[in-house]
Amino acid sequence: MDEFHYQAGVLHCEGVPLPEIARGAGTPAYVYSYSALERAYRELDEAFGDLDHLVCYAVKANGNLAVLRALASFGAGADIVSGGELYRAMRAGFDPKKVVFAGVGKTDEEIMAGLGERILLFNVESVSELEHLERLAARHGKQARVSLRVNPDVDAGTHDHVSTGRAFDKFGIPVDEALALAERISEYRCVDIMGVHQHIGSQITKLDPFVESVEKTADLVEELKRRGHDIKYFNIGGGLGIRYNDEETPTPKDLVDAIRPTLEATGAKILCEMGRYISGNAGALITSVVYRKRSGEKDFIVADAGMNDLLRPSLYDAHHEVRSVQEDGSVSNADLVGPVCESGDYLARNRELPDAHEGDLLAVMSAGAYGFAMASNYNSRRRPAEILVRGDRWAVVREREHMADLVKGELVPAFL
Ligand code: LLP
Repeated sequence: MDEFHYQAGVLHCEGVPLPEIARGAGTPAYVYSYSALERAYRELDEAFGDLDHLVCYAVKANGNLAVLRALASFGAGADIVSGGELYRAMRAGFDPKKVVFAGVGKTDEEIMAGLGERILLFNVESVSELEHLERLAARHGKQARVSLRVNPDVDAGTHDHVSTGRAFDKFGIPVDEALALAERISEYRCVDIMGVHQHIGSQITKLDPFVESVEKTADLVEELKRRGHDIKYFNIGGGLGIRYNDEETPTPKDLVDAIRPTLEATGAKILCEMGRYISGNAGALITSVVYRKRSGEKDFIVADAGMNDLLRPSLYDAHHEVRSVQEDGSVSNADLVGPVCESGDYLARNRELPDAHEGDLLAVMSAGAYGFAMASNYNSRRRPAEILVRGDRWAVVREREHMADLVKGELVPAFL
């Protein structure tokens, strides 16, 4: 996370000292680096070299309009999983011809929205979904381009909640059923099979599962082509892991080099849909210490950010590095906890942490993906502000919610 660095003992994002942002925008706040987003995107893009390809950004990781606008301007496509993400992607200026739509539960309304925008591909996950797609496209005089999302039955070796390519996971179509399904699609008038898609999980830190699943899926592409299906796209999914702690993660180049011959042999345009790799290390959550307390043998640093702001530690026991914003080097063994009324509300547990006291600022690192995106209003807490930094400029790209936002849309009926 080079874009977050100390200068004269103060943590900066690019050219901006984080205390300046905390003073101007308050805490907690997510801070994103434009140049880190660009670097990660280009690294992925360049890893494919002269292979015909498109890097799509998984909007679910961080769907802030400014973040999306930046990525669209770099030339990225978008991977979406809901009508809401399609709306965001269109608002941010993505070219619909670069949008791919995944998800096991697309509703008719969402399918219609995708057809309306003439997106590049629907990643279809079931026979029932195909039937809906055909019916809706026929009724509205549209043509739908689809990729079959297959389930290659490969264990990505990641957290159970975010592993998606095992036979018992809800995602995709078993490889051995995909051929029959492709034959069936040929009989549909308004659905054209143009691609094959796989996605085996998230925060994958080993190459083997990628290699194994890409090889399996490439065999299917081969067989489909042999049977006369014009497979133009091979979507290898997202999931490339990042370093949160001491993980040894493959680089995009390591990944693409390991599968390049297989990809080349398919003759298809390669799509990938990375979220975390692009935005994960481009963001940090800055938070102020509200209190310091000692309870029995334990030390607690109580911050103004909690599990509603950053859920990953509570939900996955995920590790996020915690840095002091004013570097002084002293550490202590403590839990960094939030104000939410659950013992599961922690950002770091039983860890050596900066020895922070009331009023100090801390930065919870690698929070640019699945950070704000999973934030909630639990405990009627307002969701935090989001800030984008570019060089020595910064801007609020989402305001901290107001009290009125907390009750927006709620109505008290006349019979009360
Ligand atoms: N494509 C599909 C079909 C996906 O389901 C996902 C993520 C991605 C692409 C992007 O994966 P990435 O490159 O970001 O790993 N909330 C969890 C992560 C959930 C990932 C869900 N699907 C977390 O905080 O770790």
